[in-house]
Amino acid sequence: MNALLEPDEQLETIRVRGNGPLEGTVHVPGAKNSVLKLMATTILCDGAFELSNVPDIADVAIMGDLLAAIGVEMTRPGPGELVLVNTGKITPVAPYELVERIRASINVLGPLLTRCGEVRLSMPGGDDFGARPIDMHIAGLEAMGAEFKFSHGYLEARADRLHGADITFDFPSVGATENLMTAAVLADGVTTIDNAAREPEITDLCEFLVSMGAKIDGIGTPTLVIEGVEQSTLRPVRHQTVPDRIQAATYLAACSVAGGRLDIVGARADHMTMLLDRFANMGLDLTPTDTGIVVASDERPRSIDVATLPYPGIATDYKPLIITMLAVADGVGIVTENLYPGRFRYVEELQRLGADVRTSGHHAVIRGVPRLSGAPVKAHDIRAGAAMVVAGLAAEGETTISGIHHIDRGYDDLVGRLQAVGADIERD
Ligand code: EPU
Repeated sequence: MNALLEPDEQLETIRVRGNGPLEGTVHVPGAKNSVLKLMATTILCDGAFELSNVPDIADVAIMGDLLAAIGVEMTRPGPGELVLVNTGKITPVAPYELVERIRASINVLGPLLTRCGEVRLSMPGGDDFGARPIDMHIAGLEAMGAEFKFSHGYLEARADRLHGADITFDFPSVGATENLMTAAVLADGVTTIDNAAREPEITDLCEFLVSMGAKIDGIGTPTLVIEGVEQSTLRPVRHQTVPDRIQAATYLAACSVAGGRLDIVGARADHMTMLLDRFANMGLDLTPTDTGIVVASDERPRSIDVATLPYPGIATDYKPLIITMLAVADGVGIVTENLYPGRFRYVEELQRLGADVRTSGHHAVIRGVPRLSGAPVKAHDIRAGAAMVVAGLAAEGETTISGIHHIDRGYDDLVGRLQAVGADIERD
């Protein structure tokens, strides 16, 4: 239960009835996992930042509340737009009530420490899929001269001025790459991050920082080289958020299980190369265009095997969608999870809809059935929730999804967008 939600919001549900092909145009908004980081990065310098292509999702509001407590005021001048005014009066404390609600709150650590020389941060919350440690964030910042202390649920860090360091990750962590990169922007000297994450959202953050005046080489590669600059040389900027590849994939999956033809405007095929390749193997007809991706499907999906990996591999966030597609595919598919061992919780919900899925350790074996059968199910996290909606499109009868505040954290009007292309779906 999310204590900060009203009881009515907890009780809201989405009802879906599988009613055949989808037809029309869907616009994909900006990426949650980029915009939240761009927002946190406005801590680095004073002035008014303007962000566009911002998704209308709950996590943006939560990050806005966290930044307001720190000293950055957020307004929404129009749909898809944010103005963030860094007042210069920064309080380097991230309180429990706000931090526990989203994982991305960890992204204030690097900017606060490098700008203020100290930070007090409650340990971050987020989705419920197993332990998500932050040891790599801490070790990297320690290598740059920070001293950490953990006390009464708060992480406290200090450093008069961080210095450059050579850091090699065991694993290309998205959050650790972002925190170290933003911290290194104001550090004394050059920081090299080897085996850095290179998701499109990281590249978006790099481009945002460079337009602010940061010096970063190796953007889009596993080796980022950041030369620290003086804070006075940074400036606030306007920036358009990169489109959300996970939301785009959700509409691809919806078309795969329901059939039909969708023009997914805003989707970046170049950010989804490996996934599109796998989806083509599953029988989707995919055409990248100047504005997005056109997808068509007139047959049952075919089964494939998939393993999740850091970018450019198949993202773990796609996995609940892929398992849902495999649940109604022709044949047997094996999905291997390499990032979050505990991220199979939604499988029991799919089983309630008649899916034949068995899990063992990091693996799921999915024997496709021709059709699922509607039932009440729960959304356990953002991506699992979206997968339940897609499963409802593949089911006979009615599927009722509860726990939809999880979906609202990352999806901008999923119900309205699917209604507009002919899905029988509503929010109660
Ligand atoms: N890890 C560590 N130590 C660390 C950092 C990470 O062991 O210091 C482990 C994690 O526990 C996890 C794995 O490494 O098992 C991946 O973590 P990573 O740091 O790469 O992910 P993240 O920054 O916590 C972001 C997204 C997730 C997405 C992952 C992987 C945000 C806010 N979250 O998380 O997105 O699954 O990258 O791509 O950007 C979502 O949007 O629903 C979501 C969960």
